[in-house]
Amino acid sequence: MTKSGNVADWSPTSWRMKPIVQVPVYADQALLRAVEDDLRTWPPLAIADEARRLRKSLAKVAERRAFLLQGGDCAESFAEHSANQIRDFFRIFLSMSVVMTHSAGLPVVKVGRIAGQFAKPRSSDMDRRDGVELPSYRGDIINGLDFTEDARIPDPARMRMVYRQSAATLNLLRGLANGGYARLERVQKWMVEFLTDSPVAERFAEVAERISEALDFMAACGLTGESVPQLQGVDFYTSHEALLLPYEEALTREDSVQGGWYDTSAHMLWIGDRTRQLDHAHVEYMRGIENPIGLKCGPTLDIDGLLRLIETLDPKNEAGRLTLIARFGSDKIARHLPEMLRAVAREGRNVVWSCDPMHGNTVSSSTGHKTRPFDRVLSELKSFFEIHRAEGTWAGGVHLEMTGKNVTECTGGAVAIQETDLAQAYETACDPRLNAAQSLELAFLVAEELKKDRAARPSAFAAAAE
Ligand code: PEP
Ligand code: CO
Repeated sequence: MTKSGNVADWSPTSWRMKPIVQVPVYADQALLRAVEDDLRTWPPLAIADEARRLRKSLAKVAERRAFLLQGGDCAESFAEHSANQIRDFFRIFLSMSVVMTHSAGLPVVKVGRIAGQFAKPRSSDMDRRDGVELPSYRGDIINGLDFTEDARIPDPARMRMVYRQSAATLNLLRGLANGGYARLERVQKWMVEFLTDSPVAERFAEVAERISEALDFMAACGLTGESVPQLQGVDFYTSHEALLLPYEEALTREDSVQGGWYDTSAHMLWIGDRTRQLDHAHVEYMRGIENPIGLKCGPTLDIDGLLRLIETLDPKNEAGRLTLIARFGSDKIARHLPEMLRAVAREGRNVVWSCDPMHGNTVSSSTGHKTRPFDRVLSELKSFFEIHRAEGTWAGGVHLEMTGKNVTECTGGAVAIQETDLAQAYETACDPRLNAAQSLELAFLVAEELKKDRAARPSAFAAAAE
């Protein structure tokens, strides 16, 4: 069908011939088609050139010359959509990234779980409460969170709202990334007000002070924002789980410049742990798009299955194409990850390895909240780095559920949240997120881990001169 399709027997619709799980059956098929027709004519959100640029940056991660920071809400929602929410997320994300860059001497590739992260896979189709059973909430792109029959009916028109919200979010993010807010000289101003008394804010202030000194030094040498465009803004990319395929398909466009099909709903997309069946629709769709893609790897994925998925998703073995996102749980990572790293290395596969220390560490609190103990999150992350060090492979990134707000969803942290505190500000529509302080604390841990190997790497200065 297409001159430029790089992938055999693939089209944006070929997934429709495959078995599929975790997507709704819409009662109103006529409305579904009308929505798809609208989306097909609406402008792309992410641009193919940007997706290619991200692929190049991720190739640097695969080559041990950069680190990937990916994070954001478990699920964005229509209710929680405001400029403050986006700005607070962005500045904590930027702060985390400078903490890592400063300590590691490495560029950090910044990818938000934002501007499109609205569809959720569920472990159970049904939600039971007090003897009443309703279909599960599957994210605002599919149905509503309220526990009523009406709200839980899948509604295709929600896709239009997601497109519009994503466009508005992305617009602000682009402004923040390139309009001056993210200029490194403003590093001292990024700190979130409510954190100012916490120990982690003090640590951040020290880093910010040292960066400011370095900038003064550089300016004295003639290197300013005028001469070095990198100091004027940042590259910030978007990502989400490509779960609701009618939406993704409708935003899939052939690149008029270089050819190839891009999912323009985001720069990077990933396949969830529940939808990675080799012969199913999600893998079929993802193998044909040219965006950089991620694959969640959980405890039920065996080595053979992983290698076959890699072959299908990245047949040309191109660094930057595929990011494997390990999400085993702090008690399981040591059992699964080493063998996977060895098998992938043995096959000579150029992948990025990232760690999602969230999804394998979800527990129920005594108060009935879904939560994640922060020490388990940190423990999985530390193991991830240690295992990579032992295997001689590169711990390339981290994938987090986090927010810039002062929520109480995960227990623990320097300002210790107890189970009995969870109800105070438990705002997530889905999984518990790290709050601003916990996110920054985690960034310091990553920074320490990255620093341990700094001497063994060429300096960023030398690498840039190569
Ligand atoms: C998620 O990232 O929100 C998610 C559902 O993860 P996983 O597919 O790894 O369970
Ligand atoms: Co989640």
